[in-house]
Amino acid sequence: MEVLNTIAALKSLLGPIKLAKQKIALVPTMGALHKGHVSLIKMAQQQADIVVCSIFVNPTQFTDPKDLEKYPRPLEHDMAMLKDAGCDVVFMPSVKEMYPAEEKWHIDLGPAEFLLEGEFRKGHYQGVTQIVKKLFDAISPDVAFFGQKDYQQVLMIQNMVAYFNLPVQIISCPIIREDDGLAMSSRNIHLDATDRKNALVLSRALTYVSENFKNKSIPELLEKAKQLIEETPGVELDYFTIADGQTLLPETDKNDQNIIALVAAKVGQTRLIDNMILS
Ligand code: PAJ
Repeated sequence: MEVLNTIAALKSLLGPIKLAKQKIALVPTMGALHKGHVSLIKMAQQQADIVVCSIFVNPTQFTDPKDLEKYPRPLEHDMAMLKDAGCDVVFMPSVKEMYPAEEKWHIDLGPAEFLLEGEFRKGHYQGVTQIVKKLFDAISPDVAFFGQKDYQQVLMIQNMVAYFNLPVQIISCPIIREDDGLAMSSRNIHLDATDRKNALVLSRALTYVSENFKNKSIPELLEKAKQLIEETPGVELDYFTIADGQTLLPETDKNDQNIIALVAAKVGQTRLIDNMILS
């Protein structure tokens, strides 16, 4: 496994691989790796010759400086996970390498940028798409893998790819959960035993909606899901919505295609998100 820190080193390693017409996959991460990240690497291995995984805690996507500061960075653990997963190349740049100068960045990601996560984390998706664009420029992957766990993020990255007309295929991979249903997240490490138990209400509320989608109305489903979350101590709901999977606007017609339930809540001090595709 090659571990590289600069774009120049990356380009000289990947140049000949590209010339040999081998397929390059990218799995961008911020580290603190878990089985969700590993599942993306495994999917990438099935579809490409070389898998590059990046680890970079991207400052421009954090809206709360405290969140950036306390973001976990367990380097040795991450390296062991990547080696075990059979990752070919790890790209771990410094902040200076990715942002040598201050940049003004604004692209049109479409109206869904400002909904849900975009409403609670202003400018978040400009930061996410900024770093993903820089990683695409550095690596020129043929294909890149992202988790459905961050559903809106995948949409925004697809919009960024369309905006710049980039020759990269974006693949969304299923959410990996703990045995009890909690969606795996690097942030779960911050949950104490009580939070960890309370956090289960998010996947429970989503499962309730999914299981009752056929026989209950959307307002009924929303009322029950929100009630489940709001009656759980230590959990503060930001949103629970049943939305159109493309526009993210509230869904009113259950017969439409591509409907998704999305939730975000603070559990103790930790903000968690989750979602489930309903149709
Ligand atoms: P990070 O939160 O580290 O996630 C890296 C990738 O792993 C994302 O595509 C995310 O959706 C996916 N992922 C996280 N938890 C998952 C789970 N339980 N199951 C499946 N996939 C999961 O998302 C980011 O980093 C950053 O915003 C990034 C795209 C790297 C840009 O900085």
